[in-house]
Amino acid sequence: MDPKSFQLFPEQASTIAGHVDALYAFLVLVSAFFSLLIAFLVVWFAVKYRQKGNEGPPVHDPHSEHGAAGMILEIVWTVIPLGLSMIMFAWGVSIYFTESRPPADSMEIYVTGKQWMWKIQHMEGAREINELHIPINRDIKLTMTSEDVIHDFYVPDFRTKSDVLPGKYTTEWFKPTKVGAYHIFCAEYCGTKHSGMIGTVYVMTQTDYDEWLAHGSGEGSMAEQGQALFNQLGCGNCHPSVINNQNGRCPNLVGLFGTRVELKDGTNVRADESYIRESVLYPESKIVAGYDNIMPTFKGLISEDGMLKLVEYIKSLGKQAGTTNTSVPLPVQTSATPLTPSNSKTGAMKTAPRPAAMPAAPAPPQGNR
Ligand code: CUA
Repeated sequence: MDPKSFQLFPEQASTIAGHVDALYAFLVLVSAFFSLLIAFLVVWFAVKYRQKGNEGPPVHDPHSEHGAAGMILEIVWTVIPLGLSMIMFAWGVSIYFTESRPPADSMEIYVTGKQWMWKIQHMEGAREINELHIPINRDIKLTMTSEDVIHDFYVPDFRTKSDVLPGKYTTEWFKPTKVGAYHIFCAEYCGTKHSGMIGTVYVMTQTDYDEWLAHGSGEGSMAEQGQALFNQLGCGNCHPSVINNQNGRCPNLVGLFGTRVELKDGTNVRADESYIRESVLYPESKIVAGYDNIMPTFKGLISEDGMLKLVEYIKSLGKQAGTTNTSVPLPVQTSATPLTPSNSKTGAMKTAPRPAAMPAAPAPPQGNR
């Protein structure tokens, strides 16, 4: 970050940065090589085959250039570019897959974009605006949404960015490798002050980070704040959030997160952040098998920040699921959710009993949503 030194590239401050730069260097080198080769040949041929004196256009012998040598030439200039572009493709895909799959034990942080600022919430309760404090050498996963238009969370030094969309959760992850301060940019034009929608990531040692975190908001963890909101909105009047407390009208939320939920229409869906958000704001869109559509919408009653707290609260209920056998965690799940063997038949949500009058639907086809 020395401003005096001229840098072609931003600093490499995350584990992925070197890989991205290597691929980029490869693309530049290949492009430069062929650009120079073609430019050289254009000039060379122009000189070599130029028209001399008044001898007229050169006479073509159609057989001279379409023999075996011509065939070999054609194969060579087809196969080499094909090979090169396949290398670029495979290399790019492998980096893309790495960047789009957060490691399971990542530290989770929530980001809300709005015109024109970044609001950030830590699970422990700390909140910040246009600043993100994180510890070094930890996988950091951002779950992001927008309150208004499309933004894009971009940290050049980490070589990672992702769109931040209204009405949807997107993720981004990185593992910072150097202590320091790094720019955050909004990389999607979002209105007048788009260029001012910037911030700073502070990568700290674990000790410094713990110290920073200790000066938190004093409002409790995100899950605790989510629980307060849950109670304030009266969700608990219907949804049991205690193990083995079932009232039969609404699904129990304990151990729900990360499981597959069987729906009334016979499909099933993974209970992830987006599913929870949708169920709160558009409860009619996915009805759990065995239940009726009796939930009112909470659209307009919960801010995006509040929604993330609710999500975090319901996640925290999932993490208590180690003491219950009512859920079936997926193989790929947050590490805190133990893979308890289950005695339920399918991946259906079994956190509340079905009313006896409503037999289980026949085994649903594996939904693809
Ligand atoms: Cu937000 Cu551009």
